[in-house]
Amino acid sequence: MKQKPELRVGLIGSGFMGRCHSNAFRSVGGLFDLPLDPVADMLADISDEAAATNAAAMGFQRYTGDWGKLCVDPAIDLVAVTAPNALHEPIVLAALAAGKSVYCEKPLSTTLECALRMTEAAEKVGAVTMVGFNFYGRKDWTKKNLINWTWEFIHNRVTANTVNRFKQLCEWKFENLGMDWKTE
Ligand SMILES: NC(=O)c1ccc[n+]([C@@H]2O[C@H](COP(=O)([O-])OP(=O)(O)OC[C@H]3O[C@@H](n4cnc5c(N)ncnc54)[C@H](O)[C@@H]3O)[C@@H](O)[C@H]2O)c1
Repeated sequence: MKQKPELRVGLIGSGFMGRCHSNAFRSVGGLFDLPLDPVADMLADISDEAAATNAAAMGFQRYTGDWGKLCVDPAIDLVAVTAPNALHEPIVLAALAAGKSVYCEKPLSTTLECALRMTEAAEKVGAVTMVGFNFYGRKDWTKKNLINWTWEFIHNRVTANTVNRFKQLCEWKFENLGMDWKTE
């Protein structure tokens, strides 16, 4: 099999969303035929100790307690930002200045002005950028908010299983009637 070019990922922040991103980078190649092969290269966190522990647990080859070093590391192609919101702007600006592609978690930043500065910087260098708008519910989030509650309901495993079971029953019924769209 032909070896694909690597996409060397530098991830900043190894909390809840950091683990989501690192899982996704590891498994995405099994789902889609990608032109590049993501490699978990370097993890940055608040200290060398935290970064070392989490890099080992999450399968990153290198680690640092200084996100600035990750942003300018010549081996890194893509900087993924899963640090707290207030750090998004300085990290993204540093990564863009170093010529990296950037994948930043939502919210892009804490104010509209910050977000506009980030957008302008990205447009200026013509970088490939993306904001992570996927939603991942957390068990400890308040249920007072109707939107949160609705999202949690939709993402609930019981709901998903019920919908999936219904879909399977429909498929089975169609198969018995000789109307299976998959085998036509
Ligand atoms: N897409 C979604 O559904 C979703 C869900 C939750 C959070 N988020 C976003 O993801 C981002 C991270 O949230 P989280 O829930 O993973 O937070 P978290 O607190 O679990 O993780 C934050 C990580 O950043 C690290 N960090 C803090 N200061 C740092 C520094 N100076 N340098 C390097 N690392 C530092 C922390 O040690 C920790 O590992 C936030 O922007 C948040 O808004 C998105």
